[in-house]
Amino acid sequence: MSVIELTNVSKSYPDGDALQTVADNIDLTIDYGEFIGICGPSGSGKSTMLKLMNGLVTPDTGSVQVLGETPAAINGFDKWRIKKVGFVFQHHFLLPELNGLDNVLFMAQIAGWKRKWVRERAKEIFAYLGAERAAKRMPEQMSGGERQRVAVARALINDPPILLADEPTASLDRNRAEDLFSLYAKLSAEHNKTVVMATHDDRFVDRFSRAYTIDRGVLTEKEPLPAARQL
Ligand SMILES: Nc1ncnc2c1ncn2[C@@H]1O[C@H](COP(=O)(O)OP(=O)(O)OP(=O)(O)O)[C@@H](O)[C@H]1O
Ligand SMILES: [Mg+2]
Repeated sequence: MSVIELTNVSKSYPDGDALQTVADNIDLTIDYGEFIGICGPSGSGKSTMLKLMNGLVTPDTGSVQVLGETPAAINGFDKWRIKKVGFVFQHHFLLPELNGLDNVLFMAQIAGWKRKWVRERAKEIFAYLGAERAAKRMPEQMSGGERQRVAVARALINDPPILLADEPTASLDRNRAEDLFSLYAKLSAEHNKTVVMATHDDRFVDRFSRAYTIDRGVLTEKEPLPAARQL
C-alpha cells in the first residue's frame, strides 16, 4: 500500500465567469519515507495539492487515497487527519494567546492524548528541533525560524506518518532556510516520515527524492541534474 495515491485527480476553482484548473488529471504515488518537492510559481496550485493530500480539499474528479483510505469518507475525519497527517501551514497559524509548548499540547489534546504524558514528548520534540527557547515564548516573541519550528513540533506531536509542509522556508534567511530544510530531510531519512513540501525555492530541488513542477494544473517530474563531472 502506498502512503498517498492520487489517481486522475482534477480540481478547478471559479475565476470570474471562467474556471481555473489547478489540478489537471494528476497521477501521483508516494511511499513511506519519501521526500517529495512540489515546485511552481505563486498561484500554480502547490497549496491546493497539499490540501488534496490531507482531505482539506476534495477533488472534482478522480480519487485521493491516503494510507489506503479516502479522507473525505472517513468517520471522524478531523481526528484522523491530525493523527495521520501533520500539516505545517504557509502562515504557521500558531495561536497567539498560547506559548510554543501550549500550542503543541493543544494539538495533542484535540487528538485525545493525556496531557501529562504528552508534555514529556513535546519537550523531547522541542529539544530535537533545537527550539527549547520557543517553547516558553509567545508567538509574537518568536523569530520566523522559531515559529516554523514550533509549527513543525505541533505537526509532529501526534507522531503522524505523513508531514505536509507548505513553503516552510519562504520567510527565512538563507541559513535558517537551510537548517529547516535539513530538518525535514532528516525526518524523512531517519524517521521514515513521508514528507511532501511545497516550495518555490529552486536551491533545494536536487535534495528531494523526487521533485515536481506544477503549472496550470499539470504536474511534471523534474529531471535530476546530471552528477557533477569528474575532472
Ligand atoms: N478556495 C478557493 N477558491 C477559489 N480559488 C482558489 C481557492 N483556493 C485556491 N484558489 C486559487 O487557485 C490557485 C492556486 O492556489 P494555491 O493556493 O494552490 O497556489 P500556490 O501555488 O500555493 O500559490 P502561492 O505560492 O502563492 O502560495 C490560485 O489562483 C488561487 O487563487
Ligand atoms: Mg501556497
